[in-house]
This record gives sequence, C-alpha cells and structure tokens, in this order.
Amino acid sequence: MDNYKVIEHDVIVIGAGGAGLRAAIEASAQGVSTGLVCKSLLGKAHTVMAEGGIAAALANVDSEDGWQTHFCDTMKGGKMLNNYRMAELHAKEAPMRVKELEKWGAVFDRTKDGKILQRAFGGHKYKRLCHVGDRTGLELIRTLQDKGVHQGINVYMECTITKLFKDGDTISGAFGYYRNSGEYVLFKAKAIVLATGGVGKSFSVTSNSWEYTGDGHALAYEAGCDLIDMEFLQFHPTGMVWPPGVKGILVTEGVRGEGGILRNNKNERFMFKYLPESTRHEFAETEAEASQWLEATLNLTKSTARRPPELSTRDNVARAIYTEVKEGRGSPHGGVFLDISYQDSNRIKQKLPSMYHQFKELADVDITAGPMEVGPTAHYIMGGVRVDADTAQSKVKGLFACGEVSGGMHGANRLGGNSLSDLIVFGARAGLHAANYAKELKGKPSINGKEIEAEITDLERPLNAQSGQNPYDLHKELNHIMSTYVGIFREENDLVTGLDKLVELNKKLDNLKVVNNRTYNPGWHMCRDLKNMLICSMAITKSALSRKESRGAHSRLDYTETDKELSKVNSAVFKQDGEMKLEHTPTLSMPEELAKLFN
Ligand code: FUM
Repeated sequence: MDNYKVIEHDVIVIGAGGAGLRAAIEASAQGVSTGLVCKSLLGKAHTVMAEGGIAAALANVDSEDGWQTHFCDTMKGGKMLNNYRMAELHAKEAPMRVKELEKWGAVFDRTKDGKILQRAFGGHKYKRLCHVGDRTGLELIRTLQDKGVHQGINVYMECTITKLFKDGDTISGAFGYYRNSGEYVLFKAKAIVLATGGVGKSFSVTSNSWEYTGDGHALAYEAGCDLIDMEFLQFHPTGMVWPPGVKGILVTEGVRGEGGILRNNKNERFMFKYLPESTRHEFAETEAEASQWLEATLNLTKSTARRPPELSTRDNVARAIYTEVKEGRGSPHGGVFLDISYQDSNRIKQKLPSMYHQFKELADVDITAGPMEVGPTAHYIMGGVRVDADTAQSKVKGLFACGEVSGGMHGANRLGGNSLSDLIVFGARAGLHAANYAKELKGKPSINGKEIEAEITDLERPLNAQSGQNPYDLHKELNHIMSTYVGIFREENDLVTGLDKLVELNKKLDNLKVVNNRTYNPGWHMCRDLKNMLICSMAITKSALSRKESRGAHSRLDYTETDKELSKVNSAVFKQDGEMKLEHTPTLSMPEELAKLFN
C-alpha cells in the first residue's frame, strides 16, 4: 500500500508552539536535518494564551530575586511533587533563555532604566514576569517563528500525526495526514520530539482551542511511555464566563498582577478568607496593606507591603471562585467580579491591551469603566510524559518530549508564567539532545509496512462504516463526564462514576460513522482526536482515584488533607497487554544543597 508521501529527516518535532519551535531551532542549529510538524497553521498555538508573562529571575525590579528563590517558589507551588532537577534547571536557565529571546528580537516592556520590566504573578515571591503588555506568548511565538523560518527549518503545516513507529525499542518514524487534503504522510526520523501541548478540549469550559486533544500524550502512551501526575489539571481561575460563545477564553493573571481585585456579589474581597494557613504570612492582611503594595507597583518603587491575596496560587484562587459561586455569591453569569477599572484608563489600555479589546469586542464590557465577570477554565495539564530532566528523553529511545506534554516540571500545580520559561528551557534541551542522539545513531531504524497498513485501516474505519455514532455527540458526552465528575473538587463516588462512563464511551469508539471522504473532513479528524482525549481522560481519572489526598490542583472532598507519604510518589500510567495500568513510583530525592534552600 503505497498511497502515502514519505518525508525523511534526522529529527522530527511534532507541535509548533513555543516548545516545538525552540526544539526545532536548537536541533537544526546542531546541523541535523529538522522537520517541524504542526496540526494547525504555524504560529497558532496555546503558547499565546500565556499572556501575562514569562517567569525568569532577572531581578530587574526586585533585586533580591535569584534562581534559588524561583526554584523554591516553583517547588512550593507544585507542592513539592515536582521533578526537582527540572525545577532547578528551569530556574537556572530561564534568565539566559529570556535574554536570548531579546537578542532574537522580542520586544519586552521596559523599566525606567531600560531593562526588561517584570510584574507580579501568583505564587512568585518577587516581581518576576517579563512581559509584553498582555501579549507575551504571542511575542514569544513571533520571535521564535522568525528565527526558525530564517534558519531554514522545514515546516509541515496542518498535519495531524496519528501514530509513532518503533524499530524494536527505538523510535523510527511517525504517520499522519494533511488536514486539508486528507493525504497520508510518513515521516521517517532518527529522533522525534513531542511538543504537542495539552488536553483542554476534554473539558467543556477551557481556554484551549480545537488543537488541544492530548495527541502527544496519547501517542507517547501508545508507544510505551509512562504518563505521570495526570491527576493534576490546572483550572485557571479567570476565564470569561459570558457571553456563552466565548466562555472559557482566558483573562490573563496579568490583570491581578497589575492590581486587579476579585469581589463577590456582596462586594466582599473574598480572597482574604481563602489564603492557606501555610502561606498567609506572605500576603497582605488588610485592604490597606494591599493598597500600599499596589501603590509601590504602580510607581515601580520598593515597599515592604505584602502581596494582595489575589496573587495566591492558581489552584487556590480557582477553588475560591468556584466556592463563592456555588454558595450563591457569584455574578449574574456564574462567575465573580474582577475589577481594575479603579486605575487610570490609559494605564489599563497600555498594560492590558488585549484584555481591553477582548472584553469590548466579545462582551461589550469596558474594563476601564467597570468589572469583568470571570470564572475557572481548564487551562493546563501538569501531568505528561515522564522524561529525563537533563535530556528530555522518554523511556522510548529517540523519543523526546518538552513543554506541556511532558510531566514533572510543575508537580501538583504550575505557577503562572512558568510555562513560557519551561517551553524555551526544555525546548532547547530536547532539540539539542534529539540532534545529538540522531547524530550518534548508527544506521536508520526501519518501519514495518504492515503497521502502516493497519494504521490506515484503523483511521478509515469510520469512513467505511455503514452506520455508527456521530463523533461530535461523543465529544459532548466526554466534556460532560470530565466536567461533572473530574472537575475542581473530586470525590471517590464521582470519580468511579466518571471512570465507568469513560469505559462505556471508549467502547463506542469502535462504532463511529462519518460521511464523505478524507478531504476537508473535520468530522473524520474528530474521530482520532476523541481517541486521544479518551486516553488522557482515563489517565486523569484513574490517577485522580489513586491519589487519596488533596494536593495542589487535585482537591478531594473525601481526603481534604495532604498526605506526607504521597509527596514521595508520582502516579504513573502506562500500557501493558493492551490495558491501562497505574503505579505509584518514587519521586527523585532532592540533594542536600537544594533541600537546604527551603530553610
Ligand atoms: O494568565 C496568563 O497570562 C497565563 C499565563 C500562564 O498560563 O502561564
């Protein structure tokens, strides 16, 4: 069966957001032939949804900052479940990678003396978020895209990868199709980097767009990798809640970083009462103290005032908003109020230009004149492919993963702004090590033609079926299950019910029917997306069931406390004999010199 195009590179990078672009730039800089495959158009990636900034301890605004504090904040934010080595590399290398971006043309906002300006964000002790208004992710993508294209990377756009191949235990290629024509394509490669992002489309309210169906997680799982910490799904506290067509779209944490205040329908500044005891001392105790902090922030001056409570970590703020709404203190459209309108309107438009336009155009709300309505939205998965911290290589030889599809870096909860820095730190590492691996590999690993035929048969089943279910109906069902039973607060009965329903839904995957052929056929695309989302959803639910405690973004109503013993284990999901298995595996233990930093 020769009805597919064959393309060959030393390194293939799947996914062209920040991590994929940075990996491809690094691999091609090592002199190996590099191909970059994106599901969407180049430049359209969830990276742009990290609007408020990129975390790096440059100490331009708060001179006390350093990699050690960034490391500690990241570990504490991740409730100590992070792969400490990833958090260490990330904190140490983020400043260098940000400066590299600047050298490549990224235009950051500036301090009065011309340095990169940094703003406050949840869970960061110091003002650490380098930013470009509220379009930081967009600027990062623009910069990397320019750099990559000029460097001569081969880009394959609107191409969905459906299967990875191995020669024994070594990666050998990837198979997929062009979304517009339906034409099949086989990528032969010595090394593959997964940089496919997250799984948000499994949930009904999400900041993610249509591409984020857990493809890389599922490809890696099928290829024999472990997926770790999948129970940790981040609900960003502030998404739009109205009008219905834009529900879930992100409202950047930058609003709170610039002084945005959260209030309920009783006009109470409720975040004061939701600060966990262990972090209360880090936050302002009164509105007056929070105002002093703001005053200093607006004037770019120093102050001993502590941060406002709105800058607690995302897991905590999301739970607080959810609780306020559930207990009847929400806004008219089921959110709470986020207000920055008390500030000078020109400053708001300068600092938050996208938010200004987003609310004006989508909701007819002028954020310089009144509050926004916001509520939690599924944003980011901390869990993902288990990789070696230094090389980003997975358990499968020649298969690397970086960015959101990889697990470990963020532990139980990611701090805002740590995603953009993660992308460029580990994107560069993955690209470098994939290129080195490809250079050192002797010979070319082969691909079994029968496996390609089997993949084509599997892909075409819904096109050839006489009857069956509509994949969009199943997607709605999946969204309902995940949002109802595996949401912000979880408990045993719900999780068991959710898992049973997912198992039932999974059976229906063999009985899908779509009309027409492979050309321009979104219904057909949804069939494979569904399979991937279901693998991820089962992994999330099984892992959530297995973690009988509350930690970070995983909140159990039946196990409300943190269990010390469980801070020493990652949940790991893997495929064995065709079944999804789960184990708890020990976390890496932190060396003494890093452990001492927490004293
Ligand atoms: O709120 C934001 O701007 C998102 C940032 C992030 O997810 O890192």
